[in-house]
Amino acid sequence: MADQLLGKPLLKALNVTKSFGGGRGFLGMGPPKEPTPVLHGVDLVMGAGEVTGLIGESGSGKTTFGKCLLRIVEPDAGTVELEGRDWLAVPRNDLQAERARYQMIYQNPYACLNPGLTVGAHLRETLSVFRGIKGDEADRLVLDELGRFGMQDKVTSYPGELSGGEKRRVSVARTLLTQPALVVADEPTSGLDASVKADVLDAMLHARDADTAYLFISHDLDVIRFVSDRILVMYRGRIVEVMETDRINPELPHHPYTVMLFEAARADVPSEEELEARKGAQVRGLDLEVGCPYRPLCAIWHESGRAEGPCTEELPTLVQIHGHQQVACHVMAAEASSIEANKTTNAPGIPGDQKESKS
Ligand SMILES: Nc1ncnc2c1ncn2[C@@H]1O[C@H](COP(=O)(O)OP(=O)(O)OP(=O)(O)O)[C@@H](O)[C@H]1O
Ligand code: SF4
Ligand SMILES: [Mg+2]
Repeated sequence: MADQLLGKPLLKALNVTKSFGGGRGFLGMGPPKEPTPVLHGVDLVMGAGEVTGLIGESGSGKTTFGKCLLRIVEPDAGTVELEGRDWLAVPRNDLQAERARYQMIYQNPYACLNPGLTVGAHLRETLSVFRGIKGDEADRLVLDELGRFGMQDKVTSYPGELSGGEKRRVSVARTLLTQPALVVADEPTSGLDASVKADVLDAMLHARDADTAYLFISHDLDVIRFVSDRILVMYRGRIVEVMETDRINPELPHHPYTVMLFEAARADVPSEEELEARKGAQVRGLDLEVGCPYRPLCAIWHESGRAEGPCTEELPTLVQIHGHQQVACHVMAAEASSIEANKTTNAPGIPGDQKESKS
């Protein structure tokens, strides 16, 4: 479980589970369909002002998890506590008002801007609804906020007159004006060029000084490493690794999926032939309900000759292997414990609290 708190308790989500679909198809007349599981019991505990990065390939369930935490999508099972309160017990009718402190920056910001309202009107409305601020003070705060994003001259523009990056900045500005305790930021810097990206990150991290915490979802691993206190890696609806950003060290055992994500980001990807070979060896005849769901793509498993054993028989769960690093991989967990055992045998008397440097 990702359960080490860095600030005062804010979020405690346990066993968050979600499936989509099921039912009987068109007009309820088709054959019954099995729901498709998307989240398989995900845990996350966060403190105030903390930034948790969430990475994983497209479709792994990142957005769904963020939405379940805020009840934009209702989880099927699990518990979510926000600031000590049972969030899942809040009546649906009260959610809108309660959401002032718990906000989402949507992956697609276009959908949440009203085409008939100017940028200034959007932001003034946010101040009025969430903080009760109106009139001159609201105008001043709106201009200040837009100034942080280099967009003061857009105060009278309509969404249709903005570029994609400008719409994204308005959506971030609007969220920050609510002074939230928790923001699920879903790809907030996607499509922004480098200087604008820096402005947006700066504004978001500035809000962190006022104890705003973020679940920061992104495919941009450089941004994730820059902003996050720790990083969760999600594969097919399960967290397979938890890393502290000051301990991302290539020397440490990492989940093979994490290694693949970081290699892909460096364009250091396996060759086409290797991928094809792995794919060919993949799913056919494999029961992924049992054993490690990553094994069809796992180089270690293929190199072992797809041996029988824990990889094929037991679902790996997160195991603490180093500091606060956790990994859900039988082989990497065993390797980590043998590294620790060697350290103890070979280096008696060396202080145990030596930090790895950031790679
Ligand atoms: N409302 C929905 N109804 C049915 N299926 C859904 C719904 N929302 C998401 N899904 C499915 O759940 C899976 C996870 O989707 P999700 O959007 O959470 O992935 P993601 O990790 O955020 O991907 P990306 O990186 O592309 O944004 C996908 O297979 C998606 O098609
Ligand atoms: S548990 Fe086995 S199959 Fe799964 S990632 Fe680890 S080595 Fe690969
Ligand atoms: Mg998404």
